[in-house]
Amino acid sequence: MRPADTAAAMLGRAALPVLLRLEPERAHALALRGLRFIRHAWRASSISPQLGVELFGHRFAHPIGLAAGFDKDGDYLDALGALGFSHIEVGTVTPRPQAGNARPRLFRIRDAHALVNRMGFNSKGADHVAQQLRASRYAGVRGISIGKNADTPLERAVDDYLECLRKLYGVADYFAINLSSPNTTRLRELQAPDALARIIDPLREERRRLEARSGKFVPLLVKISPDLDEDELAASCAEFVRSGVDGVIATNTTTQMDAFRDQPAAQHGGGLSGAPLLDKSLAAIRRLRHELGTEMPIIGVGGIMNAGDAIERLSAGANLLQLYTGFVYRGPALLAEILEAVTRASSRAPARASHGH
Ligand SMILES: Cc1cc2nc3c(=O)[nH]c(=O)nc-3n(C[C@H](O)[C@H](O)[C@H](O)COP(=O)(O)O)c2cc1C
Repeated sequence: MRPADTAAAMLGRAALPVLLRLEPERAHALALRGLRFIRHAWRASSISPQLGVELFGHRFAHPIGLAAGFDKDGDYLDALGALGFSHIEVGTVTPRPQAGNARPRLFRIRDAHALVNRMGFNSKGADHVAQQLRASRYAGVRGISIGKNADTPLERAVDDYLECLRKLYGVADYFAINLSSPNTTRLRELQAPDALARIIDPLREERRRLEARSGKFVPLLVKISPDLDEDELAASCAEFVRSGVDGVIATNTTTQMDAFRDQPAAQHGGGLSGAPLLDKSLAAIRRLRHELGTEMPIIGVGGIMNAGDAIERLSAGANLLQLYTGFVYRGPALLAEILEAVTRASSRAPARASHGH
């Protein structure tokens, strides 16, 4: 039995060569619109129950999800869900709608299987996303990545995160606190331990109130940059443990693009994703697992382009994985390939696949 619907993979294979020739942001919009039409024809077929992961109060059908930034506004949740992702991280959402940076702001480096983006949190805002999530029938786990508006000063960033938390609490299964996008000025400074505490502590306090009122507990995860050095990462980890975050997502895009200095795509600044991020994000996962011990959930993302990359990250200690750039270049076939590989791996070593908490 194949764990993922191969019709989706085949259609993806047919469409990809055309999409990858179009202007990248236009291709993205077209692919999402195309998915809407065929969602009823695609069904993730039965996934081995052995692949299930229990994590922070949720059951994930398998470890593979879709990373933040693919469906910024929750407009395509049902269509993307039909492809078989166990979880989808919507957003990053800002409290108020904002346009993001001027276009062009998304570039391919095709030979390297990479993307460079400087989207800058284009978002229809928290109210819109709340509405979309309420209307969605997606049955997988719904993460929401939250951020700050570009015109909110850094000192008041916490107010934006709090506003997102309040507006989206009822529709979220987990929150990803995005402190690691390189495309919002100075955002990454919020990863420093003191700044982190000034964001996390009020969010946890507000979550306590919202939980008391609703009876629903929504975990708070932090998404980190791959560009933290070892000392910075160790300091952030100590703060994660002190403040009691519920999990860490590693990693966002990197600003280190020296290897691509000659490429037009890299001359605009922004964040690099895809294959060149592989080693950095894997190193971050290993380091996090070392610093945080066995209990803290880690979601691994960055440079997963094939099944081998996925297995390697799970072995390095990630509980769940997310795809973005690999999915852009390879389409639903990548998800199918990874699911087959983890199914094989789990039947060889039954204890490994369900390393939940
Ligand atoms: C066009 C684009 C937009 C993104 N937008 C977001 C975002 O809004 N929030 C976020 O946390 N990550 C965002 N990311 C980062 C991805 O979620 C992911 O962490 C990163 O691309 C590394 O994974 P990959 O190498 O598989 O692409 C974005 C990435 C791309 C390419």
